[in-house]
Amino acid sequence: MVTPNTIRQTRIGALATYVPPKTLDNHQLSQMVDTSDEWILQRTGIKTRHIVEPGVAASDLGKEAALKTLAQAGLTPDDIDVIVVGTTTPDMFFPNTASLIQTKIGATKCWGFDVAAACSGFTYSVGIASDLVAAGRCNRALVVGTDVMSSITDYTDRTTCVLFGDGAGAVIVEPAVEEGLGIIGCEYENDGTLWPALQMPGGGSLHPASHETVDKKMHFMKQDGQTVFKFAVRKTEEITRKVLEKHGYTPDDVSLFVSHQANRRIITSAGERLGLPESKVMMNIQDYGNTTAATIPLALDDAIRQGRLKKGDLVVLVSVGAGFTVGSVLLRWAF
Ligand code: ACO
Repeated sequence: MVTPNTIRQTRIGALATYVPPKTLDNHQLSQMVDTSDEWILQRTGIKTRHIVEPGVAASDLGKEAALKTLAQAGLTPDDIDVIVVGTTTPDMFFPNTASLIQTKIGATKCWGFDVAAACSGFTYSVGIASDLVAAGRCNRALVVGTDVMSSITDYTDRTTCVLFGDGAGAVIVEPAVEEGLGIIGCEYENDGTLWPALQMPGGGSLHPASHETVDKKMHFMKQDGQTVFKFAVRKTEEITRKVLEKHGYTPDDVSLFVSHQANRRIITSAGERLGLPESKVMMNIQDYGNTTAATIPLALDDAIRQGRLKKGDLVVLVSVGAGFTVGSVLLRWAF
C-alpha cells in the first residue's frame, strides 16, 4: 500500500511505438514543391517520413503505441492509474487526447491529461508522470507522445513540409524494481521570449478560425528555421550538461544520448559540443523526420532493436521545442 507523498524511485518499464504505414519520401516531396532529395538530406538528414491517411488522428496513433506497450509490459488497461499525453496536434481542442486514448484502449480506472510542450512533449510528460508516481499519487502511468504533424503542415511551403512526419510512442512509468535502475533526474526550462520563431498562429483564442485565418494559412505551422536551429543546438548542450552535473555525472559517463530528432545537424553539433563519439549519439531522423512528441520514443525503440541500448546504460533524453521549451531526463535503462 502506497501512502500519498512517498518519494520513491521510478523507472520506464516498457516502451513501444507506432507509425502509420504510408510513407512520403524526398523524391515524392520534390514532385510537390521546389526541393530535391539532395537538399533535404544535406540540410536535415531526412530521407523519408510516415504520414497518416485522412481521418487518422493523434489518439489513433497513440492508441496503437499504448496497446503495444501494455502488451510488452504484461499489463491490462485497468492497471493504468493515469494517462499523460504529450501532443501538439490533439484530435481537437477538447476533449483532451488522454480521454480519447483512455476510451480507445478500454482503460476504465484512470484519469489523464495532455501536456502542451511541442517537441518537448515527451520529456515533459515523462517527468510529470515520474513525479506523480514518485510521490505516490498513483502507481502506474501510461505516457504517450503522439503527433500528426501532417495535419498542420503546409505542403506548398518547402521550408517546413520537408521536416515533419507522424508517429507515436508510449512508455510505462512505474516504481523502480531494481535499485539504481530508473529515472535519476529531470531538468526543464522555458524561454517564452522567442515564441514567434515557431508557432501555429490560427485557431486559438487570439485568432479564432475564420475565413481570414484560412485564407492567410494561419492553421499551418510557421517557423524561423535559423533561430530555431541556433537555439536548439545551444540549449541541447546546456540542458544535457545541467542534468548530468546536478547528479554528479559528466558527458563521458553517458552510454546513449537520445536527442529530439529535429535536424541531423542540430543533433550532430550538440553531440560534438558535448564531446560524444558518434556511436553514443542516437540518430534515426532519416526514417521518420521530426515527429515532435514521438521522436524520442522512436529513437529509443530503434536503439533497443539495434542493440545500442541495454539494461543499466546511462541515458540522457533531451528536447527543445516551440515555446521555447527545453527538457531533459537522465536515467539508467531498466530493462
Ligand atoms: N528545398 C530547397 N531549398 C530550400 C528548401 C527546400 N526544402 N527550404 C529552404 N530552401 C532554400 C531557402 O529558400 C534558401 O534559399 P535562398 O538562399 O535563395 O533564400 C536556402 O534554401 C537556405 O535556406 P536556410 O533557411 O538558410 O537553410 P538552412 O540551412 O537554415 O536550413 C532548415 C533550413 C532545414 C529549416 C534549418 O534551419 C532547420 O532545420 N532549422 C530548425 C528547424 C526545426 O527543427 N524545426 C522543428 C521544430 S522545433 C524543434 O523540433 C526543435
